[in-house]
Amino acid sequence: MKNSTNRGWFITLEGIDGAGKSSQFSAVVDTLRGLGRKVVATREPGGTPLGERLRELLLSEAMSTSSEALLMFAARQEHVLHVIEPALLRGNDVVCDRFTDATLAYQGAGKGIPRDRLESLAHWVHPGLAPDLTILLDLPAEVAAQRMREQGRQADRFEREPEEFFGRVRRQYLELAREQPGRWCVVDASRSLDEVREEVIQNLKNRLEV
Ligand code: TMP
Repeated sequence: MKNSTNRGWFITLEGIDGAGKSSQFSAVVDTLRGLGRKVVATREPGGTPLGERLRELLLSEAMSTSSEALLMFAARQEHVLHVIEPALLRGNDVVCDRFTDATLAYQGAGKGIPRDRLESLAHWVHPGLAPDLTILLDLPAEVAAQRMREQGRQADRFEREPEEFFGRVRRQYLELAREQPGRWCVVDASRSLDEVREEVIQNLKNRLEV
């Protein structure tokens, strides 16, 4: 992965709920920092004071699907303007737990909003900005559901969706990865955390050519 300017790398992590994204997120951030790179670690929805307030609403309040998608993009607009773009321009790497691909997967394939509608919002909110690398932690929906049951924690509004919903979300992620193989790296997340971590780090280093 070559980056012709002094901009930092924009790296995102995606996957259905229960795929083990949080542990791998820390592995990516720690690896980059270990290489001496300056990293801004952030998440969506969230990443700014307003974005985090919107996150609370999105994860708990009942709302229409279009309000949900628009609030995702409202939070994203703040995040891009105040955190992501300034950090990349300073030459920092940005590692973001989810970005617009999550909207295409969850609000698009999951909840039925047409993809072109979401893509025009994306074009409005972050024209010209796309991740340099997206790591997809891929896991069958039934395995993710089983893992979440075993964790036994209180599910948020998204996590309460049925297994078929996560099946659609997963298929959309895999389709996006097939469309842009140069940007995406698909990791089989059904193995142990250590095995997955090793593959994530190896892929990251290969793509960054370090
Ligand atoms: P997280 O649990 O990975 O932090 O994400 C919170 C939830 O928000 C997760 O269930 C996925 C959902 N989500 C969307 O539905 N659309 C989006 O655009 C983003 C960023 C997250």
